[in-house]
Amino acid sequence: MARTGAHVIVVGNEKGGSGKSTTAFHLAIYLLFEGYRVATIDVDSRQQTFTHYVRNRRAHMQERGLSLPNPKHFHLPSAWGDSIKENQRAEFDIFRRAVGEVEDNVDFLIIDTPGFDTNLSRLSHSLADTLVTPVNDSLIDLNVLARLDPDTGVPIETSHYSRLVQKARSERLAVDGETIDWVLVRNRISMLGSRNARQVHATLDTIASRFGCRMADGIAERVIFRSLFPIGMTVFDPVEDAAAEASSSHASARQEYRNLVAALNLPLPHRFREPMRLSA
Ligand SMILES: Nc1ncnc2c1ncn2[C@@H]1O[C@H](COP(=O)(O)OP(=O)(O)O)[C@@H](O)[C@H]1O
Ligand SMILES: [Mg+2]
Repeated sequence: MARTGAHVIVVGNEKGGSGKSTTAFHLAIYLLFEGYRVATIDVDSRQQTFTHYVRNRRAHMQERGLSLPNPKHFHLPSAWGDSIKENQRAEFDIFRRAVGEVEDNVDFLIIDTPGFDTNLSRLSHSLADTLVTPVNDSLIDLNVLARLDPDTGVPIETSHYSRLVQKARSERLAVDGETIDWVLVRNRISMLGSRNARQVHATLDTIASRFGCRMADGIAERVIFRSLFPIGMTVFDPVEDAAAEASSSHASARQEYRNLVAALNLPLPHRFREPMRLSA
């Protein structure tokens, strides 16, 4: 597929519950608040978490009379016909159409993908400039890259997902000579700094270079994320819960997302409008 004008961020990991949708949504809202134009695509037709997040946001805004930024959003359903070939053709068409509609008038296109392999997910990966893979802070989650020797942490066998990313990379290289910047993001980091977490960090560092990806510090484990989803809000939005604990938790989470965006090294074009004022 030909390249787009927008910088494409794909959030992927063949594992459910690693924080893909939460990360994708927060990145989108953060970049909007920063004054960039953002479109989003949800290709997880089964869970549609991202799409629900967007709907919850619109409903909450309406209910409260709030005026907050929203991405232009597309939800792409999978095709369910009898012929695989026709389904792939139909999916390619709706994907192409959605991308075509926004590629030249947004700065960032953020695509949220399901925790398993689908045609739409592959299409998304082949369009990625930046691939963000959230991994939970456990050795088990490193399976997204490779099967590891449980004693030494040495990779034994490349994972299905790593192979899929490598394939998307070589396709990308053939199309326009560009590569995919693959960034593993630690998510739900335990605040306790357990021995296991340190081991995960060390192992990730060693194997990241081998798989041509890099690692970024991500987001700590925080209960606030659970209450934000039903109202479609992010840590960047003004929320009414004024409890001191909640607000300091919000402020720390905001700082973590800012650090994450800095670590992603995104090309930051001229802002479309002035950043909106965020609280600390
Ligand atoms: N940093 C975090 N701290 C606490 N809970 C989190 C965090 N990130 C995500 N979650 C929660 O984990 C669950 C799965 O997250 P989600 O983004 O839907 O994952 P995925 O899209 O990979 O399936 C959700 O209930 C979400 O609120
Ligand atoms: Mg999801």
